[in-house]
Amino acid sequence: IQVDDFDLVIFGATGDLARRKILPALFRRHAAGQFPPDARIIGAARSPLDDAAFRKDVAAAIAEFDPPRAQSPELPGFLERLSYIAIDAGGDAGWPDLAARMRKGVVQAFYLSVAPSLFGDIARRLADHSVAGADARIVAEKPFGRDLDTARALNRTLVRHFAEAQIYRIDHYLGKETVQNLMAVRFANMLFEPLWNALYIDHVQITVAETVGVAGRGAYYDHAGAMRDMVQNHLMQLVCLIAMEPPWHFDPDAVRDEKLKVIRALEPVAPADVVRGQYAAGAAPSYAQDVDNPHSRTESFVALKLRIANWRWQGVPFYLRTGKRLLERSSEIAVVFREPPHSIFDDSAGHKANQLVIRLQPNEGINLKVMIKEPGPGGMRLVEVPLDMSFAEALGPEGADMPDAYERLITDVIRGNQTLFMRGDEVEAAWAWIDPIIASWENGSARPEPYQPGSSGPDEALALMHRDGRRWREIR
Ligand code: BG6
Repeated sequence: IQVDDFDLVIFGATGDLARRKILPALFRRHAAGQFPPDARIIGAARSPLDDAAFRKDVAAAIAEFDPPRAQSPELPGFLERLSYIAIDAGGDAGWPDLAARMRKGVVQAFYLSVAPSLFGDIARRLADHSVAGADARIVAEKPFGRDLDTARALNRTLVRHFAEAQIYRIDHYLGKETVQNLMAVRFANMLFEPLWNALYIDHVQITVAETVGVAGRGAYYDHAGAMRDMVQNHLMQLVCLIAMEPPWHFDPDAVRDEKLKVIRALEPVAPADVVRGQYAAGAAPSYAQDVDNPHSRTESFVALKLRIANWRWQGVPFYLRTGKRLLERSSEIAVVFREPPHSIFDDSAGHKANQLVIRLQPNEGINLKVMIKEPGPGGMRLVEVPLDMSFAEALGPEGADMPDAYERLITDVIRGNQTLFMRGDEVEAAWAWIDPIIASWENGSARPEPYQPGSSGPDEALALMHRDGRRWREIR
């Protein structure tokens, strides 16, 4: 279905995220016929480019980051939608020109793909120069602050010029198909929800493992670390979707109200329940070499145990881990059920607890592990088998060619649907929970545990579960 006619301005249009994700995602939606003929995309950045040079750069970005589409017959039509304006976020050059270019009576969206330190300047100039109409939408990229105070300040800056209903804070994990599927699985089936509580669930484990290091992003990453870069936003959102109560409706505020309640119910984390790691040198350089800071105490890996203080989750630990330079790129959520209360089979029959594994990437799918009898005449031996639903197999080509998260999120902005975006209070609540953990690291003198590249992280992360008599699933 086509979206309404729009003018989308991308600040930071020549930057890495725009070239890698935003512009290729827009091209895919264009090629899918979702944009009306007059919809326009205006690149804005500091470099003095003209339209032709910008279009050339976008074509190059698509060739680099979406090579199969580089020769697409749709590309020239997409490039025609693009224009460019040189603008100075901190000065007044370019703003009147931008105001003159914006059409009235169409959706206006302003995508801030720039350093958060520029959010305030841009928001103010959009208002001062009357660039943005009363219903314009502002899209804010992460990082949304580096602690509670900075996040609050950013929120205050944005709401000075725009209403909350106009602000779209991106967490691209919410745009991933399987992440949205979490809500479908939980709330469109009768099968899982009755078991979705402390009576039947032993624990939940969430792994977001990456093989890449931080080379090239050291300047940002060394001031952030895995806790700020991944846990505060992406993993926290996954926890919310697993743990939240059913919203009364699939509606932006109903969903976000329920997520907020989860974050508010998080117990403070004891220092012993958090493990920090930093990758050592292997075939590739170490973390410290990648960020060019031999004394860095920034973590490239975190594992932690959290608890949610409410009726549903009383006593059910959630184990989270994420890191760079691990052995596979693999993200999944495993809901591990309790053992049956009484086993009628011999211990030797080989019983295992049921698990519902939701694979986010790669090979998106859902896998329910159940026990059955091992075939054969040898008595009652149990064996675990998967009820496996790979989206690629179950849904055919559409399952195999899932849209990128940004495709979904940008079209939601144009449609005016905030369900998959973070509200200001959610972001602040997440920082309020994270801040004391980071403060305890900064106040201490301990260093992150070194781990081998290509491993599953430091041994201490394994111990975090072992001492509770549990174990992580293998990363694969
Ligand atoms: C980003 C982080 O938000 O998410 C990166 O800044 C990380 O450090 C990335 O690599 C992971 O996203 P994805 O979609 O590849 O899992």
